[in-house]
Amino acid sequence: MVINKEDIKKILEIAANAPSGSNSQPWKFKVKDNQIYVIALPEKDHPILNYRNRGTWIAHGALIENIVIASSSFGYEAKVKIFPDLSQPNLTAVIELALGLPKSDSLFSVIPLRATNRKQYEDRLLSDVQKQEFLKSASSFKEIEIKFTEDKEQRRLIGEALSINEVVTLENEKLHKLFFEEIVWSRPEESIKKSGLYLKTMELEPPQQAVLKLLRRWRVMKLFNHLKFAGIIAKDNAKRYASGAGMGIIIVNDRDEDFLLAGRAMERLWLKATQMRLSFHLITGTMFFWQGIQNDTANIFSKEHIEIINNAYNKITEVFNINRGVAALAFRVGLSKEPSALSSKKPPEIIWV
Ligand SMILES: Cc1cc2nc3c(=O)[nH]c(=O)nc-3n(C[C@H](O)[C@H](O)[C@H](O)COP(=O)(O)O)c2cc1C
Repeated sequence: MVINKEDIKKILEIAANAPSGSNSQPWKFKVKDNQIYVIALPEKDHPILNYRNRGTWIAHGALIENIVIASSSFGYEAKVKIFPDLSQPNLTAVIELALGLPKSDSLFSVIPLRATNRKQYEDRLLSDVQKQEFLKSASSFKEIEIKFTEDKEQRRLIGEALSINEVVTLENEKLHKLFFEEIVWSRPEESIKKSGLYLKTMELEPPQQAVLKLLRRWRVMKLFNHLKFAGIIAKDNAKRYASGAGMGIIIVNDRDEDFLLAGRAMERLWLKATQMRLSFHLITGTMFFWQGIQNDTANIFSKEHIEIINNAYNKITEVFNINRGVAALAFRVGLSKEPSALSSKKPPEIIWV
C-alpha cells in the first residue's frame, strides 16, 4: 500500500519537534512506500552524557511517540517495531503506516508547542484530578515505572541530587569544554545553527549571563573553582529544580530498548503537561554520569566527583524508594510563565527510497 508522500512529510516535520540532548536532533529518516525507517545519529550526542547511546534512545522514544500520535491525526494506524534489526543498531524503529480509522490522539495539537521550561515554577500543587490525568497519559508502557512526588522535603533532596551535575560539569576540564561548546550565544547564531543549547532558554538573569560568558575560559573557571563557585551555582539551581508542583522519575530495566520506551512515556507526559498548560523540565546529568561510572567507561571523573555522583544517585533511589532497575531520567512539572525563548528545529532529513 502506498501512502501519500506529502502526509508522511508533514508527519515527520511535526514529529521532529521532539526533545533531544542539547537540541542535537540525532535522527534522519528513510521512507519506502508505507514504511518509515527511523535512524539514529548518535555521534551528534556526546558519549560522556550519552552512556551506551541511551540519551539518543530517549530522544528517539519521544520522536517515535510523536510519529505515532501525528499519524493517527492523518488517519493512519502506525505499527511500531523498535530495534527491528540487530545488525543495524542505529535503526531505532520501523513504523508501518496503514490506512484505517484510528482514534485521533488529542495530544497531536500540542506537539509543536512542547518546549523545555527552565524557569522557577510557582509553588502550587496539582489538583488530584490534574495529577491523575497527567500520570495516566503514560500508563500504557508496562515495562517502565513512573514515580512522582509532591512532597516538599523530598523535592528539595532530589533538587540537590540533580544539581551536582553543575558541580561536576564546571569543575572538570573536559566536561566544561563540552558544555561551553554546546552553548549558542545569540539569536542570529541560533537561527542559523538550529541546534545546541541556546543561551536564552537557560533562563539566566543578565548578570548571570555575563558571568557565564567569563566562565567559558577554563583559566577563569579554574580561578572561580578555587572559590567553590560551581557549588554556589548548583545550590541556586537545586532550588529551581525543587520548585513547582512535583518531580518525577522514570525507572527502567537496565536494557537499552527500555530507554527508548522511557522516552516514549516521557514525551506523553510532556505533551499532556503542555496540553494542561503546565511547564516541564527534564533533568538527566546525575543519572548519566552514574551509569558511566558503574560501567567504568567514564574514567574522566576525579575520586571526589565519583563520590558526589554516587551519593547523589543513591539519594535519588532512596527518596523514590527504587529497589530495581535504573533511574533513566528525572523531570519537574508545574505552573510557570512561558519560557523566555524556544529552541529552533531543523527540517528533518528524509531519504525516499
Ligand atoms: C536525553 C535527554 C536529556 C536531557 N537532559 C537535560 C538536562 O539534564 N537538563 C536540561 O535542562 N534539559 C535537558 N534536556 C532537554 C534538551 O536540552 C531540550 O529538549 C533541547 O534543548 C530542545 O529544546 P526543547 O525541549 O525546548 O525543544 C534533555 C533532553 C533529552 C532528550
